[in-house]
Amino acid sequence: MGLLMRLCRRSYATKITDHQAAVMARSLPKRQALPGVKNIIVVASGKGGVGKSTVAANFACSLAKLGARVGLLDGDIFGPSIPLLMNLHSEPRVNDKNLMLPPQNYNVKCLSMGMLTPPDGAIIWRGPLVMSAIQRLLKGADWSPLDVLVIDTPPGTGDVHLSLTQHAPITGVILVSTPHKAAVDVTIRGAEMYHKLKVPIFGLVENMRYSICDNCQHRLEFFKQQTEITHDKLPKTLISLPLDAHIAECGESGVPIVIKHSDSEHAKLFNQLAGHIWGLLQNGEPNEAKIK
Ligand SMILES: Nc1ncnc2c1ncn2[C@@H]1O[C@H](COP(=O)(O)OP(=O)(O)O)[C@@H](O)[C@H]1O
Ligand SMILES: [Mg+2]
Repeated sequence: MGLLMRLCRRSYATKITDHQAAVMARSLPKRQALPGVKNIIVVASGKGGVGKSTVAANFACSLAKLGARVGLLDGDIFGPSIPLLMNLHSEPRVNDKNLMLPPQNYNVKCLSMGMLTPPDGAIIWRGPLVMSAIQRLLKGADWSPLDVLVIDTPPGTGDVHLSLTQHAPITGVILVSTPHKAAVDVTIRGAEMYHKLKVPIFGLVENMRYSICDNCQHRLEFFKQQTEITHDKLPKTLISLPLDAHIAECGESGVPIVIKHSDSEHAKLFNQLAGHIWGLLQNGEPNEAKIK
């Protein structure tokens, strides 16, 4: 064996000792519970535009209608949607402990970078600043008391997701995906990341597989090859939402569909999702074994 190869082997094959592992663990941030917040649920997906924020806002409002005390944190620092979806545009007030008081609508306390920056101002930040912004929204606010804090996230598995999983004890993740392959592939990568970080996944919300005609109720399938997202690496599908003009309109007008058309079939699907997860939370801390 050549000298170079032997040297390389030696330097890379060195085992991490228990002492080194302990030192490395000490430098990692500790997951700290948020005072007065019982559960944290992250809404995530690999892709943008698949409906994460729409799902997060409607899910939060549905939970609140079930009687849960709910907060909604907009973790999308560069593209905040929650101010528009929840019709909350004013700056949060600050209490005597210098904590922000999340403004409330539809019985949901909300906080977003969009409430703290002018709408036309570009945010040009590197990773560490993004992470500190997330920390500020999480820990620099008086969220208490909450049964559930829902966190809407940006696409991907980047700084925001890592920062959240490192700092906050996440109860579980709801993944959102459309059925097209490009979205499914990155959603699988996202699922694998949460799996590695030992964060339980509640399941998948499938969005925009079909639409239903308002006049004749005909169901139009956009992805004819498969009947559902059945990739074995994906978590189970919790609900499948249609592509529907009312869902989009409600988003644009700042009144989520579960509030504006509370008896619609779409509202029922969101209520089903909220009821399922609220039931799991009330039966104790979910773990992966219980969720599957
Ligand atoms: N099921 C749906 N039917 C119609 N429009 C939808 C649906 N889900 C999301 N949209 C619309 O698609 C756009 C992107 O949704 P959004 O929730 O912002 O996605 P993301 O947060 O993943 O980027 C928004 O205009 C939203 O109103
Ligand atoms: Mg979004």
